[in-house]
Amino acid sequence: MRNRALEGKTVLMTGAGRGMGRRMSVALAEAGARVAMIDIDEDVLREAAEEAEGAGGQGSVKPMVCDVTDADRARQTVDEIVASFGSLDVLVNDAVVGPERIAGFMVGHTNFWDLDDDLWNAMLRVNVFGPQLMAKTCAPVMMKNGWGRIINVTTSLNTMYRVGGGAYGPSKAALEAHTHIMAHDLDGTGVTANILIPGGPVNTRMIPADAPFSRSALIQPEVMEIPVVWLASEDSDGVNGMRFIAALWDPDLPRDDRIARAGAPVAWTQLESRAIYPSED
Ligand SMILES: NC(=O)c1ccc[n+]([C@@H]2O[C@H](COP(=O)([O-])OP(=O)(O)OC[C@H]3O[C@@H](n4cnc5c(N)ncnc54)[C@H](O)[C@@H]3O)[C@@H](O)[C@H]2O)c1
Repeated sequence: MRNRALEGKTVLMTGAGRGMGRRMSVALAEAGARVAMIDIDEDVLREAAEEAEGAGGQGSVKPMVCDVTDADRARQTVDEIVASFGSLDVLVNDAVVGPERIAGFMVGHTNFWDLDDDLWNAMLRVNVFGPQLMAKTCAPVMMKNGWGRIINVTTSLNTMYRVGGGAYGPSKAALEAHTHIMAHDLDGTGVTANILIPGGPVNTRMIPADAPFSRSALIQPEVMEIPVVWLASEDSDGVNGMRFIAALWDPDLPRDDRIARAGAPVAWTQLESRAIYPSED
């Protein structure tokens, strides 16, 4: 068993039924956290919650059907988590509408003028508004406790502007930029906002069977487990507005070296192209 660094912490994981959300939920439960597992797909959620509870112990996991874009349900979900577990300390925004919904997206290319409007809007709504809604619902609870974590899952830079993926890339670029704003607004509250990405295509349903890779050569979803547990722990106190590449996370390095190897400031600070504002009167 891994260390129980997260005893006493409560995590809300969105997109917890499958892929990396499921793997991260299991790892967080194994590290001692109570985990509220959120998904819209009840069947996969039940199965994933059984696995996480097996890793964490009885009563450590609460599966909850919730659409991350439904404000009433989000409020109700957060209230129920606090009532059952007594706190809410960590939010992981992992839920996604992915590019796999565009037929042949890894082998062909749909031009932007042929993209479906409903899918474009769904990607922006779930991938950008969803994290904003969940964060605005959770942050006040965390700030009241003087401690908390918002962990947003975005993607690699080249995926953000990968052709043929519809709004998936732009939606993740928007969440990347928004994380910078969250980190700024949270500064000094004890709550932090950071990004965790796997570091390349991962062996989940997002990479369809017709993709030109062998499944075993892809990054495996387990890559997120150790870094998400660290980001959710008190050992990451003071780390705010950073993005971490899970595939570069080396738990054997000293803390500062680990951070330097896998981390960088969120978004595109290296662009150094700043708007020229008039001086204020
Ligand atoms: N798979 C990759 O190659 C890859 C690479 C980089 C980043 N990512 C990011 O990692 C995260 C997880 O990706 P994955 O491949 O594990 O995804 P996945 O498709 O396997 O799982 C996503 C889960 O989100 C749930 N979901 C969708 N809409 C929802 C909603 N409105 N409310 C609640 N839950 C909802 C789905 O039911 C699903 O269980 C995503 O944020 C994705 O952008 C993935």
